[in-house]
Amino acid sequence: MKKVGIIGVGEYLPKNVLTNADLERKVDTSDEWIITRTGIKTRRLVSKGQAASDLGINAAKKALKDAGLAAEELDLIIVATITPDMQFPSTACFVQQGLKAVNAVCFDVSAACAGFVYALVVAQQFIAVGTYKNALIIGSEVLSTITDWKDRNTCVLFGDGAGAAVLVPVKSGGILSTVLGSDGRLNELLQLPAGGSRNPATHKSVEERLHYIKMRGNELFKLAVKLMAGAAQDALKLAGLECKDIDWVIPHQANIRILMSMAKKLDLPVEKIYLNIDKYGNMSSASTATALCEAVKSKSIKKGDIVLLDAFGGGLVWGACVIKW
Ligand code: UT7
Repeated sequence: MKKVGIIGVGEYLPKNVLTNADLERKVDTSDEWIITRTGIKTRRLVSKGQAASDLGINAAKKALKDAGLAAEELDLIIVATITPDMQFPSTACFVQQGLKAVNAVCFDVSAACAGFVYALVVAQQFIAVGTYKNALIIGSEVLSTITDWKDRNTCVLFGDGAGAAVLVPVKSGGILSTVLGSDGRLNELLQLPAGGSRNPATHKSVEERLHYIKMRGNELFKLAVKLMAGAAQDALKLAGLECKDIDWVIPHQANIRILMSMAKKLDLPVEKIYLNIDKYGNMSSASTATALCEAVKSKSIKKGDIVLLDAFGGGLVWGACVIKW
C-alpha cells in the first residue's frame, strides 16, 4: 500500500457577508446570543445563481495550482456536498466540466458535515492501492439554499463556501490513520425531509417548509462532543500517537462551544484548534476543507506537524484522520 498525502489546498468563499446585525433584522435574535451560544459573527452567502460546483471549481483551481498539477492530469474528483447543483448529474461531473479535467472519474459523497473527511478517506483508498495516481477532493456547500430564513434556531448558523485538496502518493508522512463511523438510528436529529424519493416536492411540502434543514440542536450538541472526541482518540491510537503529539486540530465548525468541550474532554490546549467559525459559520463539508486550507496558507501548519481532521454531522456520521504534514 502506498502512503498518501496532501500536496495542494485551495478555498473559495463567496463575497457577500451576512452579519449578526443583518440577522437581527430578519428573526428574533441578537448578536450577543449568536456569539455567546455559537461563536459566529459573520457568514458568507453566494450571489444569485451561484451553485456548489461554481464554488468548488474556484477552490479546486487554487488547489491544483498549489499542487502544480494540470486539470487534465487528474484521475479522480470527489465532491462532498449536501447541496449539489442538481439531484443528478453529480456535482463532481459539473466540476469536471468547469475544470476541463477530461481524464478524471467523478462522483459525489453524501456524508453531511463529515463529507470532506469521508472524501479524503475514499480518495486515499484508490491511491493507496494504485488504482489512481492522484485525486482532487472538494467540500462545497450552498447551505443558504436549504436554510429556513424564518427559523431562528437554524438560520443564524449556516454559511456558503468551498475547500479543496489534491492527494498523491508520498514517500514519507502523509495520512497516518483514518477512522469513520455512522449511526443511521439517529437520522432524525438532522435532516432535509423533502425533495428526495421519500417526500418528493409538492405544493404541500413547500408550504410545510420541508425543503429546509431540520435540526434538533441540543441533542446533537452532546453527541458531537462525544463522537468527535472518540474519533480523535481512535485515530490517534491507530497512528500510535497521543493527544499531546497533535500540533493542529482542523475540526468541523458547528459551534465553538462543541469544540471547547471536546478540547476539555481530550485535555487538549484550545490554541491547537484551528477556528474559522467566527467568519464563516457552519458550512457543513466545506468547514473542515476551508479550515485546512487556511491553516496551511497562513503557515499555521508547518512541515512535519501532526494534524488531526475531525468532523461530525447528520446521518449521524463522523470521521477523523491523522496526517503528518
Ligand atoms: O453541523 C453538525 C451538526 N450540528 C451540530 O452539531 C449543532 C449542535 N447544536 C448547537 O450548536 C446548539 O444546540 C445550537 C447553537 C443549535 C443551539 O444552542 P443551545 O445552547 O443548544 O440552545 P437551545 O436550542 O437549548 O435554546 C436555548 C434558548 C431557547 O429559548 P428558551 O426555550 O430557553 O426560552 C431557544 O428558543 O435559546 C433560544 N434560541 C435563540 N435565541 C435567540 C434558539 N435560537 C436562538 C436565536 N436567538 N437564534
